[in-house]
This record gives sequence, structure tokens and C-alpha cells, in this order.
Amino acid sequence: MIDRFGRVATDLRVSLTDRCNLRCTYCMPADGLEWMPRADMLTDDEVGRLVRIAVERLGVTNIRFTGGEPTLRKGFTEIIARAAALAPRPRLSMTTNAIGLESRADGLAAAGLDRINVSLDTLRPDRFAALTRRDRLPDVLAGLAAAQAAGLTPVKVNSVLVRGQNDDEAVPLLRFCLDRGYRLRFIEQMPLDAQHGWNRAEMITAAEILAALRAEFDLTPSPSPRGAAPAERWLVDGGPGEVGVIASVTRPFCGDCDRTRLTADGQVRNCLFSQTETDLRGLLRAGADDDEIAERWRVAMWGKLAGHAINEAGFAQPLRPMSAIGG
Ligand code: 5AD
Ligand code: SF4
Repeated sequence: MIDRFGRVATDLRVSLTDRCNLRCTYCMPADGLEWMPRADMLTDDEVGRLVRIAVERLGVTNIRFTGGEPTLRKGFTEIIARAAALAPRPRLSMTTNAIGLESRADGLAAAGLDRINVSLDTLRPDRFAALTRRDRLPDVLAGLAAAQAAGLTPVKVNSVLVRGQNDDEAVPLLRFCLDRGYRLRFIEQMPLDAQHGWNRAEMITAAEILAALRAEFDLTPSPSPRGAAPAERWLVDGGPGEVGVIASVTRPFCGDCDRTRLTADGQVRNCLFSQTETDLRGLLRAGADDDEIAERWRVAMWGKLAGHAINEAGFAQPLRPMSAIGG
């Protein structure tokens, strides 16, 4: 799936639900966010079919399951197993808050999940409860350890720093991850929250994060190639430990983007920030064959814009929040 700027989408992000068992302040309001109606959501069979079309006909080689929180989807393990049975076998990962992984990591690995990205912004229980509005830090830490033990590696940790809340934790988060062999990446906060409260001045920038880390560690550019990966990576104190910074806002990487996205209600998004979507669910339920679906998906990707335009006048946040798109 190529677009008019020559980018090829080989990485599919599938959001399996917009529901979550946390309510991070930079993602969701405390309450009052309506969930997607069940009838609008793709069934497990429909997800399986679209994933198969993406792999068999559209050249997708990597699939990341996201949410909301993907592990809340009942058929999740089955969806993984079906994807793992495809040829050529795609690489399978998920973005999760790790709650519940303590008991499920082995089963997911056995089903064919290759690795995970865990969202963790603070190591302090009181701050975790404030940031996510749920007191569940011990579950997350246990989930992380279980994922590592189950071989869902490399375990990556995603951290968003929020001014005045956890912006002094860059160094402790990195120490924590280096000690355990997790790969930490900091992500600049993007305007994707459901309550449209993002504010540029509040955002902790990549430059600030790097300055905080450099006060404690020696950072040198990582020699391994970046490719389409969003993170710029540094070796910590000469390596082998590394840290990544995803400067989505201050140093956009849209020119190398290799992603296509599918929402839980069957809409293709060619960008996190798209203002338009392409309805595959309707096509599928109207009885379209695989060729027609693949063609519609290709057309959706051809229209991908050059970049997200967050830094341009007139930028408008997408209607769908992050919790209904997936990271
Ligand atoms: N900006 C940046 N990252 C975000 N995430 C959720 N909302 C935002 C946002 N507005 C992160 C989560 C998770 C990943 C999917 O994206 O913390 O790690
Ligand atoms: Fe849930 Fe992730 Fe949103 Fe936090 S950021 S509320 S873990 S979907």
C-alpha cells in the first residue's frame, strides 16, 4: 500500500476496543465519555478477515493490537492466534497498560504474540492513582515482569511526561527500565485527548526530556538504524542500555511513516490525525469480496497527507480520541 509520497504501509495498528480500565488524564475525561456501541464494532471474524486481507493482499508484515486496552476484548487471544496462523507470518505486538498480564502473558505468548509495549508514566503509587484515576500500579508492575518472563521481548515501556505531575521522573523511569532490561521511550504528548485539553505550552518537549536525562547519564546516538521507527534512540552511558524519545510534535517523523490503522468499528485511518476515514465495515457487511476490500484500503492509503500539521496554523484535532484510534 503506497501513498502519493512514496511511503509504503507495512505496519497495521488494529484498535480492538475503545474501552479501558484506566482513565489517564491526558487521554480521557474522568467520566462522560461514551463507549462505542457493540453493534458498530467489528466481530472477531470480521477483524480476522480484515487482518488476513492486509497480510495476504496488502503487504502488511507487522501488526500491533491497541485499544483503548486491547486485553479487555473477549476474543483477544483467539484474534492473536488467527493472525499468527497467516502466511507470511506477521510480527505481532500490542500496546497495553499491562493490567491483567500477570495471569495472561503466558497464554498470549503461546497464542503467538511476539512482544508488547506497556504504557507507564510514573513509579509512584500516589501519582499513578492521580494520573490514571485508578490505584493499580502494582498490577502494572506485575504485568511487566510477567511479560518479560513469558518472553514477550523486548518489553518496551512508553512514558508520557505531564508538566507538574510526573515531569521529574525521567531519570527514575530510565533507571527502573535499565535495571530490568525494558526499553524505555518517552513520547511527547499529542493533541489526541477526548476532552480536547492539549496545550502546547504544557507539553514536556523532547529537548526537556533529554536535558533531564543528560544531567545523570551520558547519551550518545544509537548506531542501530532508525528506519520507520518513531523513536530517536540514544545509548546510555556507552550502552548496551538505550533510551528512545518520540518527538511527535517537535520533530515529526511523518515522512517515514509506514502505518495504516483500523478502528474497532472497521474504519481505516491513514494517519492518527486524519480528518477522514474509510468505511470497511459497511463494505464487508454488504458482502464485498476480498479484492474489493483490498482495493478500498489501497485507495484510503493513497490519500494519506504528507504530515500531521500540528505545528501549522489551522490545525484541527481529529474527532476521534486516542482511546478510539489506538497508539
Ligand atoms: N499523546 C502522546 N501519547 C499518548 N498516549 C495516549 N495518549 C497520548 C497523547 N495524547 C500514549 C499512551 C500509550 C500509547 C498508546 O500512547 O500512554 O503508551
Ligand atoms: Fe487507557 Fe491508554 Fe488511554 Fe491510559 S492512555 S486511559 S491506559 S487507553
